[in-house]
Amino acid sequence: MRKLLIAANWKMNMYRQEALELTRGIVEQTRFFTFVDIMIAPPFTALEIVKSEIQNTQIQLGAQDVFFEESGAYTGEISPGMLLDAGCAYVIIGHSERRQYFGETNEIINKKVSVALKNHLIPILCVGETWEERNQGRAFLVLNQQILFGLQGIDNEKLSSIVVAYEPVWAIGTGKSANKEQVQEVHAYLRDVIKEFTSSNEMAFNIRILYGGSMSPKNAQEILSLKDVDGGLIGGASLKIDSFSSLVQIAESVQKVKEQ
Ligand code: PGA
Repeated sequence: MRKLLIAANWKMNMYRQEALELTRGIVEQTRFFTFVDIMIAPPFTALEIVKSEIQNTQIQLGAQDVFFEESGAYTGEISPGMLLDAGCAYVIIGHSERRQYFGETNEIINKKVSVALKNHLIPILCVGETWEERNQGRAFLVLNQQILFGLQGIDNEKLSSIVVAYEPVWAIGTGKSANKEQVQEVHAYLRDVIKEFTSSNEMAFNIRILYGGSMSPKNAQEILSLKDVDGGLIGGASLKIDSFSSLVQIAESVQKVKEQ
């Protein structure tokens, strides 16, 4: 049985004091929810402060990116070992903002996924089509390539811990999420692609596929209840104690229903 994961992507927001207050509030409001997994990915500068606030809770720490080399002369970069050392369990890889503004290709993303797994970090591999690609009927082709290139060369044993996030670029930060038919259609498709790639029904069944893109307490119930949706990657709504905590609460009740 897959467990829903509610993952916060704070992006380039939150000074340390703000991070502390936000985390404290989330810890306070979510401490009795035990049916779901929770992850917070703050900016690198707030990893430590968030880590200290989530000690002895079920909330796990994540990073928003990682470099694919283990150490050396790479000014400005952060290695997977450093993330582990900082207490991270997860790392977001291939977010569309990284692809769009920092020129990350499927090849770079594949190296990052591979090195993250080697270092016992759980990669959250993000995939998603632009509006233009969807309109041109190329969404599934783009998603297929992002998944297959992203996972290339990684063996089944390592792959079992990976998380995939479907984030249609046109839904991110726009207030306009994909509708439930679009989400379920893509998630089922991604699971099929993974099934073919791994030649394993069981693996494909067990891998968590999150939805991201304007998820909020208003649409979460509907999206999280979908058969192939296993959680959310949350941007805007993760920056407030109330909205993020209600997302966790909604996920908790959806998980209970899914388990019945
Ligand atoms: P959003 O961002 O929830 O603000 O749309 C999601 C994401 O980019 O991960």
